[in-house]
Amino acid sequence: MFSLLQVGLLVEVLAVIFPLVATQAQLPPGPPLPENILKNGTNFLDHVKPIQNFAGKTFLAQNIPFIDIPDKGISNVYYYRWSSLQRHLRYTVPGTGYILTEFVQPASYASAFNTIDAAAGHQIDEARWLRSNFYNDDYIQAYTRGPGNTTQYTHWILDAISRRTEVNGDKTYATGQLADMVRMFQRWDYVFDSSAGLYYFTPNFDAQEYSLPGYVAAPVGKKQLQLNGPNTYRPSHNSYMVANARAIFKVSGFTNSTTDITTTFASKAANLEAAIYKTLWDPVQKFFVDVIRTNNPRLSPVKGREAVGFYPFRFGIGLESKYFKAVKSLFDPNGFMAPYGPTTLETRNQFFAANKPADYCCYWNGQSWPFTTAHVLKSLAAVYRSRNSPIKSDQYVQYLRTYAATQQKNGEPYVAESHHPYKNSWSADSRNHSEHYGHSTNNDDVITGLLGIVPRADEVLEISPIVPRNWRYFAIENNANDTLQVTFARPRNITSVTLAIFSDKGRGGAIDVPDSIEIYGSEGLLFKSHGTQFLANDRNTFSFPQAATLFVSVNFFNKQGSFVGVCELEVWNQLTLQPYFFAVDAVLTEARVKFDPASKITTNGAVVGGLSARSRVAFSGDLPSSQVGNFTLFYSNSGSSAAPVTVSLNQVPLTTINLAPTSGSYTGYVMPISLPIGKNFITLLGGTADIKYELITLEGDDPNRGQVPAGLGTKV
Ligand SMILES: *[C@@H]1O[C@H](CO)[C@@H](O)[C@H](O)[C@H]1NC(C)=O
Ligand SMILES: *[C@@H]1O[C@H](CO)[C@@H](O)[C@H](O)[C@H]1NC(C)=O
Ligand SMILES: *[C@@H]1O[C@H](CO)[C@@H](O)[C@H](O)[C@H]1NC(C)=O
Ligand SMILES: *[C@@H]1O[C@H](CO)[C@@H](O)[C@H](O)[C@H]1NC(C)=O
Ligand SMILES: *[C@@H]1O[C@H](CO)[C@@H](O)[C@H](O)[C@H]1NC(C)=O
Ligand SMILES: *[C@@H]1O[C@H](CO)[C@@H](O)[C@H](O)[C@H]1NC(C)=O
Ligand SMILES: *[C@@H]1O[C@H](CO)[C@@H](O)[C@H](O)[C@H]1NC(C)=O
Repeated sequence: MFSLLQVGLLVEVLAVIFPLVATQAQLPPGPPLPENILKNGTNFLDHVKPIQNFAGKTFLAQNIPFIDIPDKGISNVYYYRWSSLQRHLRYTVPGTGYILTEFVQPASYASAFNTIDAAAGHQIDEARWLRSNFYNDDYIQAYTRGPGNTTQYTHWILDAISRRTEVNGDKTYATGQLADMVRMFQRWDYVFDSSAGLYYFTPNFDAQEYSLPGYVAAPVGKKQLQLNGPNTYRPSHNSYMVANARAIFKVSGFTNSTTDITTTFASKAANLEAAIYKTLWDPVQKFFVDVIRTNNPRLSPVKGREAVGFYPFRFGIGLESKYFKAVKSLFDPNGFMAPYGPTTLETRNQFFAANKPADYCCYWNGQSWPFTTAHVLKSLAAVYRSRNSPIKSDQYVQYLRTYAATQQKNGEPYVAESHHPYKNSWSADSRNHSEHYGHSTNNDDVITGLLGIVPRADEVLEISPIVPRNWRYFAIENNANDTLQVTFARPRNITSVTLAIFSDKGRGGAIDVPDSIEIYGSEGLLFKSHGTQFLANDRNTFSFPQAATLFVSVNFFNKQGSFVGVCELEVWNQLTLQPYFFAVDAVLTEARVKFDPASKITTNGAVVGGLSARSRVAFSGDLPSSQVGNFTLFYSNSGSSAAPVTVSLNQVPLTTINLAPTSGSYTGYVMPISLPIGKNFITLLGGTADIKYELITLEGDDPNRGQVPAGLGTKV
C-alpha cells in the first residue's frame, strides 16, 4: 500500500479595525461628540492617509471603522462613501436631532425635514457602523415617533432597526419603541389583500418608477401609467413586510416575555412568506416576479425578470436550492450582468432600455441603480452563506468590484442616481441635486459582506468573510473576552493549535497578548493555559492529546484594558500515512464543499460539489518510493448522462474518465496509476453540477502504510 501526505490550507484572514480616538479629557461645548471618544483604543492602521482626500476628516477619524484591504478600488470608494454619508447628516431641531437625507439639497417631494422613507433602511444599515449612536438613534425616531412619513414609499425600516441593534447591542433603545414599530407596521394594513395574502402598491411608490408592470399594463406612449405603474404584488415590498414583521417579533423577544405581539408577528411573517412562495415565485421563469393586481383575478405573473426578484434573499426568504436558480441570471450577459450592472431589468426583456430618456431621472427598466445593487449584494452574501449555495466568493467580489467601478466620475469616487449599464457614465446626475446620492449602502456591504462581520443578537462575534482567494491577512479586535472559532468541512483529528499573536503595546497601542486562553473542540476543553508566557508578534503552539473535532474554538481572556489581535490560526495533526484522501480536504477551484446526506464517508456528509467545466479539485502528497496501483474516485452523479472528468498527474493530463449516472448514490471509478517517488499532484479537471466527489483512494502494496514518521506533522 502507498500513501500521499496531506497538505492543509492556512486559514484565510483579513483585517477590520475599529479605532477609538484618544483625545484630551477637556472637551469644548459644541456639537455632540461620539460616545466613548475618551476611551483609548487601537491604532494599528493608518487613520490619516486613507481619508486625506475626502471632506469631513474630523468626523471620519472619530466615527468610521478603518480598513486595510488589498483592493484599492473598493477601499477608496469605501472612504468616499463615509465622506458622502456625513454630507447627509442634518441636525434639524432640538428634540428631533439628526436625520439622514437622500439628497444633499432639499427635494420637492421629500417629507418633513427633507426625510424620504424609501431608502431609510439602507441609510440606517450604513450608519449603524458609525461610532456615534446618536445619529441613528435620532433618525430612527424621526420615523417611529416623529414626522417622517412611513407610508409615502415602501420600506424595511423596522427590519433595519432590529439589525442595527445587533451592531450596537442597545436592546433597551429598540424595546422602548416596540409599540411604535407595531403602529408603523399596521399603517400598511390598508394595502394588504387578505385573499392573496400579500401587500400591493404601485411600483413608483415601491421606489421603482418606469418599471416593468407599468410597461406591461400600459399601451406604449401612456407615460403617466408607465411612471406609476398599476397596483402590484411585489417581491420587494412583500419581503420588506416579512422582514418588518420578523423585526417586531425579534425586538419583542428582547423583553424576555412572550406576548401577543411575539406570536402575532411570527405568524404574520410566516404567512406572508408562504404567500410569496405561492404567488410571487414563478416556477416557469424560475424567479420571484411581480404580479399585477389590477384586472388579474388569476394572479398571473408578469413575464420578465426584474432585479426586485433578488430582494427576498437578503431578508432570509428563498434561501434554498430550489430558488437559487434565480441567481444564475446575475452572471448572464443576457440576464442582469453588465460592466456597470446589475441592470434593473434583464437585458433580454423587450422593455429593457440601456439608454434612458433625458426627461426624467429614474427609469428602472434597465439602468444600473445603487439602491438595487445594494440589495443584490446583500442577497448574494445571504445566498453565499447558505447551504448548497451556487455562489463563489469571487462572484460576490466581482459584483463589489463592479459597484466600485460604477461609483466613479472623472477618475474620482462618486455616486449619483442612475448609471448607464454599459458606459462609464451616470445617466441621472443633475447638478445641485444628484451629487453624493444617499440612497444605498456600500460600506455595510464591505463590512458585513466582504469582511464578513455578521452582526448577531447574541454575544457571538461571527466572522464570515467573502474575500478573493489571494487575500490573506487577518487582524481582529474586540473586548474583554473574545472567542475565535474555525469550523472544518468535516471532522478532523487534531493535536495542536498555533496562534500568531499581534501586539502593538510596544508602540503605545492597546493590543497585547492575552492573559490566558482556552481551546475547545466538539468534545469540550482541549487546552487551558496555566501561567503561560505568550510570545508577542510571534507564533505560540499549544499541544494536547489527539482529539476528533468539527471545530476549533479559542477563548481569549484579555489583560485588563487591552485587546487581543490574532494574525493567524494554524491547526495541526500528527502525520498518519493513509491510502485515502477526502475530497473536501483538496484544494478547490470553482468547486465547493456541500453536505449530502447520501454520503456516509464523513459523519456530516461533507462532499465536493458545485462543479463545472472550469473546476479543479487538487490533491497532493509525498511518496517515499515510486508506486504502481489503483486509483479510485468515489463520486455520485445525479444527472441522466455520463460526465467527463480529466485526471491529471503532475501537470500531465492522464486520461479523461466518464462518470456514469448513479442516481445520486456513491460508487468508485477505478483506474490504474503509476506514481513517481517524491511529491505527487493529482488534479480532477472539469465536472458538472450533478457530480459530487467523496474520496480518492490509492491502493498499492506499500508495507509502510500506517507508520508514523517521528517529528512530522500535517496541517489540518
Ligand atoms: C489613555 O492612555 C493614556 C496614556 O497611556 C493614559 O494616561 C490614560 O489614562 C488612558 N485613558 C483611559 C481612559 O484609559
Ligand atoms: C404620506 O405620504 C402619502 C403619499 O404622499 C400621503 O398620502 C400621506 O398623507 C402622507 N402621510 C403623512 C402622515 O404625511
Ligand atoms: C433578558 O434576559 C437577559 C438574560 O437573562 C438579561 O440580560 C436582559 O437584561 C433581559 N432583558 C430584559 C428587558 O429584561
Ligand atoms: C442648489 O439648490 C439649493 C436648494 O434648492 C439652492 O438654494 C441653490 O441656489 C442651488 N445652487 C446652485 C448652484 O444652483
Ligand atoms: C468568555 O465567554 C464565554 C462564552 O461566552 C463565557 O462562558 C466566559 O464566562 C467568558 N469569560 C469571561 C472572563 O468573561
Ligand atoms: C482519528 O484517528 C483515529 C485513529 O487514531 C481514527 O480511528 C479516526 O477515524 C480518526 N478520526 C477522524 C475524524 O479523522
Ligand atoms: C487494481 O484493480 C485491478 C482490477 O480491479 C485488480 O485486478 C488489481 O489487483 C488491483 N491492483 C491493486 C494493486 O490493488
